[in-house]
Amino acid sequence: MLSKKMLNTLNEQIKLEMYSAHLYLAMSSHIEHQGFKGMAKWLRVQYEEETFHFLKFYDYVKSRGEKVILKAIDAPPNDFGTPLETFRKVLEHEQQITADINKLYKTAIDQNDFASQIFLQWFISEQVEEEDSTSEVLNKIQLIGDKPTDLLYLDKELGTRTFTPPSSNE
Ligand SMILES: [Fe+2]
Ligand SMILES: [Fe+2]
Repeated sequence: MLSKKMLNTLNEQIKLEMYSAHLYLAMSSHIEHQGFKGMAKWLRVQYEEETFHFLKFYDYVKSRGEKVILKAIDAPPNDFGTPLETFRKVLEHEQQITADINKLYKTAIDQNDFASQIFLQWFISEQVEEEDSTSEVLNKIQLIGDKPTDLLYLDKELGTRTFTPPSSNE
């Protein structure tokens, strides 16, 4: 059982994770349309990660004996600009999600919900990783600047990213 407040905020986060998934898939499609297949793959893996987050929250709410309420998600934008602009938006989005997860954690503290605190700790670490990996790509694109050959080389490197679901005890 969860408190009403905790359940509502978790249901809200479930919606945000699904929105994040859609946002990254829209970015993937946008960047692939510009010819960057590797970046598109990287963003598609990001989409898969967000779907995994969505299901992790979904399963947690279920495991606390509650019903998940799926809400309507907004349509993501369909133009994200250049690769540099796109990856800036990825980082901004991840920073926003970090703030949301921190707020959720604060709610779990206020509600004396210790199980939810433990559950959310995984996401706190995950957000550190998300911001770190996105900043790395963004820095590389910034360093490359206006050199198309280097950008294509980076694109190839980013295309090697694959999605590996973390094991359940991780
Ligand atoms: Fe997420
Ligand atoms: Fe994320």
